[in-house]
Amino acid sequence: MLYETFFAIENYPTVVNFGESLFAYPVVQGLHVLGLAVAVGLLALADLRLANVLFTSYPARAVVGGLRPWFILGYGFMFLTGVLLFLPKATQLYDSGLFWAKMALIVLAGINALYFELRYRREADEEGSATRRKVAGLASLGLWVAVIVTGRLLAYF
Ligand code: HEM
Repeated sequence: MLYETFFAIENYPTVVNFGESLFAYPVVQGLHVLGLAVAVGLLALADLRLANVLFTSYPARAVVGGLRPWFILGYGFMFLTGVLLFLPKATQLYDSGLFWAKMALIVLAGINALYFELRYRREADEEGSATRRKVAGLASLGLWVAVIVTGRLLAYF
């Protein structure tokens, strides 16, 4: 059922043209990597503040709050360009364990961020939340590095 849907998507004439384009597909690949630099770059700064590595003289809430709209925008952009890159390769990616691993890691990173947001907003000023902040920050960094590695490996496997 899912495979048939992917097959239909991949063979939609506009998608076929996009996939075969020597200009459009590489441009979107470039935009996906540009989004990566903005989204993961800014999120890494926020994560390192949470882990008490960077900007420790500024309140974590101020650093994370200031960066939040920008990395959310970057992730929206990554998601959009990622879906475009997926369309012409839908059935090939359906059979790729790496692709599903990457999607699962993105979901896990999202759950980590959501869980942290819900808890952290309540406990931001408590001393006891420092360890949780560190764990959430380092988990986020690790998960996004894994997403980047699986994304890059998609080109080879
Ligand atoms: C949101 C976080 C994401 C990150 C950090 C990420 C990261 C990456 C990286 C590093 C690459 C390799 C780029 C290259 O080799 O030039 C890549 C490629 C790719 N990404 Fe993502 N990605 C994300 C989201 C998505 C989503 C949501 C999708 C699709 C639903 C997607 C689909 C793809 C595809 C199909 C490729 C391979 C394109 C090709 O064949 O060259 N990505 N991604």
